[in-house]
Amino acid sequence: MALLEWKKDGWRNFPAAQQPEYPDGNLFKQALIEVEKLPPLVFSGEVEKLKSEIAEAGAGKRFILHGGDCAERFIDCNSAAIVNKIKILLQMSVLLTHGLHHSVVRIGRIAGQYAKPRSSPTETIGGVVLQSYKGDNVNGIEPDVALRVPDPGRMVKSYFYSSATLNFVRAMIDGGYADLHHPYTWNLYNIEKSPRWNEYKKRVDSLLDAIRFMETFGGLNSESLGRIDFFTSHEGLLLGYEEAMTRKSPLNGKYYNLGAHMLWIGERTRQLDGAHVEYFRGIGNPVGIKIGPKIAPEELTDLVAKLNPSDEPGRITLITRMGVEKVDTSLPPLISAVKKAGQAVTWSCDPMHGNTITVGEGDLARKTRDFNSILEELRRAFAIHTSAGSTLAGVHFEMTGDDVTECIGGSQELTHLDLQKNYETYVDPRLNYHQALEMAFLIISVLKDS
Ligand code: PEP
Ligand code: CO
Repeated sequence: MALLEWKKDGWRNFPAAQQPEYPDGNLFKQALIEVEKLPPLVFSGEVEKLKSEIAEAGAGKRFILHGGDCAERFIDCNSAAIVNKIKILLQMSVLLTHGLHHSVVRIGRIAGQYAKPRSSPTETIGGVVLQSYKGDNVNGIEPDVALRVPDPGRMVKSYFYSSATLNFVRAMIDGGYADLHHPYTWNLYNIEKSPRWNEYKKRVDSLLDAIRFMETFGGLNSESLGRIDFFTSHEGLLLGYEEAMTRKSPLNGKYYNLGAHMLWIGERTRQLDGAHVEYFRGIGNPVGIKIGPKIAPEELTDLVAKLNPSDEPGRITLITRMGVEKVDTSLPPLISAVKKAGQAVTWSCDPMHGNTITVGEGDLARKTRDFNSILEELRRAFAIHTSAGSTLAGVHFEMTGDDVTECIGGSQELTHLDLQKNYETYVDPRLNYHQALEMAFLIISVLKDS
C-alpha cells in the first residue's frame, strides 16, 4: 500500500504507544503551541553534518561514541553536573581516537533526554499505587499521587532546561574545554587506583606524546587541537513535543526535528504501523532504532525500508541491545537480513539495556548491571560483526561522569552492597566515571585483539 503524504502531525492518526494521559487536553495543546513558537535548539546544517559522519562510521571510517544518562534530571541542569558529563565523554573519545586510529563521533544523551518509556503504567511504593515516573518532562519522581499525574507544563520547562544545557555545552567546547591541553582533560583521578593502571598508563603516556608531537612538528596549533564537534540526542518518545520541535528548513524545504541532532526510536515504540515510525519517516535527522532480541529479521528490514526508502547512508543507526545471553543467537540473523536486503545502515551496540538485573528486595530492590556482562556483550557483538563481514561502528552507553554506585563490577569491584551508597539514577543504572573510562580502555583492547 502506498504511504500517504507525510505531515508533521500525521502520526496522530496512528496508535501511539507510551504517551502520557494528560487530564486536561487544552493545557496539553497550549503547551505545544508555546514550544512551537520557541527557536530551534540546533541548526539543520549540524544535523546533516552528523548524518554524513554517521554514514562514514558505517563505512568503517569513524567510530561513534554515544552516551549519557538514562534519564536526564532537571536538578542536574547545573555547571558541575554538565561539566562532569562532558568531561567523561571527551576523555573516552580522546582515548578511542588514539587507540583505534579513528576519528570519533561524539553524541551525548543530553539536552533533552527527559522522557522515559516504562514497562508498567503503575508502581506501588509504601502500599500506594502510583502512576509510573515517565521522565522529568512528564511527571515528578516523588512518590506522591498528585505529582505523578502528567503535567504538560513540564514539556515547556524541558525545552528551557535543554536549551540551558546545550548553551553551556556549546560554550565549554567553543571556549576551550575540549582543548587537549586543558588540565581537566588529563586528570585521571581514581582510575590510577585500578589494578590495570600500568597497562592504561602506557596508553595515556603514548597519547600525551602524540599530542606533544603534533604540537611540535605537525603544524597543528593549540586551537585546532581543541576544535571538536559534539552532537545531542534523545529518545523521540513524546510525539507532541517532537512535532512542536519539527521545523521546515528554508535551505532545502525538508522537515527536521531541531530539538536534537539525532533522535532514536525506543524498543517499546518501534511498531511498524505505529505513530512513532510514522513521525520519524518524515524528518531529515539521523534516526537510531533500538532493537532487542524479539525483533524478527523481516520486521527489521521492513522498518529500515519504511524509515529510509531512498537508502540514504547515515540516516539509520541500528542500536542493538540483545543482552549477553542472547546476542550470539539474535544478532547474526539480523546482520544477514540487512545485508541481503542491501540496506545501508550503521550498526551500534548498546550493551546496557539487555543486561539489567534487579538485586535486593522490597524498598531496597535496585536495578543494576554487571560491568563484565556489559563488556562481554560488546566483545561478542564486535566478533559477530567481524565474522559476518559487517562493521560495528559504535557503542551506546548509559553513563555519567559522577562517582555513582549503580552498576556493579569494574576495577573498583563494586558489589550489590555498594549500590545504596550513591544510587542517583531515576531509571536505569549508569556506568560511573571510573567504569566508563575503564570501558574505553577495554574497548581498545578488544578491537586491537580482534
Ligand atoms: C533507553 O535507552 O533508556 C531505553 C529505554 O532503551 P530501550 O528502548 O532500548 O529499552
Ligand atoms: Co535506559
